[in-house]
Amino acid sequence: MNDRNLQEEKSSKNVDRRDFLKLGLLTTAAALSAKPSQATPLTGKTEVKPPLQKYIAKQYDKLLGGALNGISDNQLKAHFALYEGYITKINELESRIKSFDTNNPDTINYRGWHLEQTSMLNGAVLHELYFGNLGTAEKEPGGALKKMIDRDFGSVQNFIGHLKTVGKIAHGWSLAALNFRTGKINVYGLERHNLNVPTMVYPILVLDVYEHAYMIDYSTDRKKYLDAFVMNLNWKPVQERLEMALSIPFGEAVTV
Ligand SMILES: [Fe+2]
Repeated sequence: MNDRNLQEEKSSKNVDRRDFLKLGLLTTAAALSAKPSQATPLTGKTEVKPPLQKYIAKQYDKLLGGALNGISDNQLKAHFALYEGYITKINELESRIKSFDTNNPDTINYRGWHLEQTSMLNGAVLHELYFGNLGTAEKEPGGALKKMIDRDFGSVQNFIGHLKTVGKIAHGWSLAALNFRTGKINVYGLERHNLNVPTMVYPILVLDVYEHAYMIDYSTDRKKYLDAFVMNLNWKPVQERLEMALSIPFGEAVTV
């Protein structure tokens, strides 16, 4: 990425972040009430921003060098390489799909690319969310996140219990997400990157339970890995994601 693109991306992120934090604060009270919020009337003035032209692998070097307790550098480096493979593959797939001539009746390859598209996309994004919520900056949930966890699960301990239990039984992912249909936080289990994926939800906390996430450190002992994950959970990005999600109205209107 050149300097100009970097500047544009940083600028766009700053604006987006300010907007969602502002909107998040405004809508937190609505999210905590029992009444579903109303959709914003259409004005026809929504700005259409230029998209990113391709996926670029994020760097998570800050997790190395003993930053985590119980998840080794070797484990993380092997995992980073896997994630970067998903980034390469999704770029390649989207390029192939875009250049496909839809007048061509031979759709065998086209079908295969589409099957892989959701797998590679989710493989990339879920790993970014997973690495993103590792770290030791914020050890406890606070603010609206704590209130909503208490409201929907009774306690943080019970919420973590659900996250870990789904982590024991799912083959791929255990994740907590804000459900836009209800305004509640739920825990979901994904068998694969693109299997059992719920719709109209926004992931706020992601736990990778594929064997590749812990084999180097814990062999087949997933329970020990789940304990290590919770010990290294950084609640700060979880709170930020929730605030971003709360900027979107929830309730009956989301499936209009
Ligand atoms: Fe993984």
